[in-house]
Amino acid sequence: MGVHKSPQLPHLAVSAVALLALVHLSLGDVSEQDDSRLTLLFAGDANLNNMLDPSNLTFPWAGIRHVIDGSDAFLLNHEGEVTNNTHNVSDPALKDSPAIANSYLTANVSFVALANNHQADYGRLSVYDTMGFFKRSKMPYAGVGRTFEEAAEPAILVMKGKKVAVFATMIGPPYDKQGRGQACWPPLIQCDPAGNGLPGVHYIPNVTFAAEHLIARANSIRDKVDYVIMFFHWGSNWDFMDGSSGDIWKERQWLAHRLLESRNVDMIWGTSAHHIQPIEIYNGKPIIYGLGNLMIPLPADLPPGIPPPRYRTRLAFLYNLALDFTQQKKESVPFTLEAVPIVSDDWKIDVVKNTSDLEWLFSKFNTISKAFGTKMERTDSGKWFVQARGDATALSSHSGPNS
Ligand SMILES: *[C@@H]1O[C@H](CO)[C@@H](O)[C@H](O)[C@H]1NC(C)=O
Ligand SMILES: *[C@@H]1O[C@H](CO)[C@@H](O)[C@H](O)[C@H]1NC(C)=O
Ligand SMILES: *[C@@H]1O[C@H](CO)[C@@H](O)[C@H](O)[C@H]1NC(C)=O
Ligand SMILES: *[C@@H]1O[C@H](CO)[C@@H](O)[C@H](O)[C@H]1NC(C)=O
Ligand SMILES: *[C@@H]1O[C@H](CO)[C@@H](O)[C@H](O)[C@H]1NC(C)=O
Ligand SMILES: *[C@@H]1O[C@H](CO)[C@@H](O)[C@H](O)[C@H]1NC(C)=O
Repeated sequence: MGVHKSPQLPHLAVSAVALLALVHLSLGDVSEQDDSRLTLLFAGDANLNNMLDPSNLTFPWAGIRHVIDGSDAFLLNHEGEVTNNTHNVSDPALKDSPAIANSYLTANVSFVALANNHQADYGRLSVYDTMGFFKRSKMPYAGVGRTFEEAAEPAILVMKGKKVAVFATMIGPPYDKQGRGQACWPPLIQCDPAGNGLPGVHYIPNVTFAAEHLIARANSIRDKVDYVIMFFHWGSNWDFMDGSSGDIWKERQWLAHRLLESRNVDMIWGTSAHHIQPIEIYNGKPIIYGLGNLMIPLPADLPPGIPPPRYRTRLAFLYNLALDFTQQKKESVPFTLEAVPIVSDDWKIDVVKNTSDLEWLFSKFNTISKAFGTKMERTDSGKWFVQARGDATALSSHSGPNS
């Protein structure tokens, strides 16, 4: 902020020495340069499953504290309600009590996406508890509301004089008979859109309608903010998007492309599958199809094979998106995308050090992202960055998912 004071310097009666010192300070001050750069740290699916000791709330984050502190904002998808209510209406059911969700405060979480299929597990009315918790905590969220209109509202994050709008939406039809589609499976798992006098989620089963609705929303806000992010909870679990689980991902790609063809949408941040998925760069803008879990402690009594071992649901990425706002009014904001490999157990998240786990993460990412024209490469600094290869072959030929 010292930079903003420097124009007043000539009006001050200061000695040459002091002036020199001040000029030196302002030349060496990187805040002006800093203000044109923003780093946003994205995480995938998170829930503490009400299992954390409330006296030990910082414990999960110690291993990635330096990564969080190195970014300007930390964004995650919280699966489940935040409520004291003990009566679950779904099975499996996810929630955290407010005492345990306070852990997010200690992690300096900047934004919580709530548009997902576990926001009514303890009943529709508990959505009020969830909203109340995040409001009291002054932690921006999007994706739930008292009405559909309210659930559709973006959160506006303000950092370093920049404004970032984040919309959160759950899309796609409920599971079909093959188990493909969004994990809404009443009465086991509810996906209740807000409306008819009840609170709920920003859920849009019709993807064609979602494209129209979200582009209109982005158009109405883009002049007031510097960057527009579309969060999605989308697709099936257990789909690396490599064709081995069908082509249901094509409707997601169709939607992402329509949105990024609009000059008013800047990036897509998707989650839900609980394991890593590809990244695509389209129109100079990133599409993260899925990051995997940030942390979801699992109950001990899960049936064997859940989650399927080959998806390695304890391994995932955080993505650090560094945005460069030095050039104004460009079609797309220049960026770099750094991948931070993470491993979570029931209680803590760490940066991956095990070489065989690292090898699996990077080679799996590169295998599944090849058709989307991206790869992950290690730089001399030892950091991993997602790069465009420029040879995408995976392209949705759909003229629209409902046609
Ligand atoms: C916090 O919880 C972890 C995991 O259960 C445990 O290992 C650690 O000792 C606890 N620390 C404190 C201070 O209770
Ligand atoms: C939840 O329960 C705790 C502990 O009993 C209590 O302190 C807190 O006020 C309750 N929160 C809400 C929102 O009811
Ligand atoms: C939810 O309710 C069902 C019974 O309907 C029960 O079997 C299950 O264990 C409950 N799940 C949780 C997480 O409480
Ligand atoms: C991070 O959270 C801690 C604990 O709530 C707080 O003391 C600290 O000021 C926060 N740091 C930032 C940069 O917000
Ligand atoms: C989906 O939305 C589109 C665009 O609003 C509409 O034309 C179409 O009829 C809808 N499809 C269904 C099955 O409702
Ligand atoms: C590294 O991970 C692999 C696979 O997860 C495991 O078999 C191996 O024991 C680990 N190595 C060490 C040194 O922990």
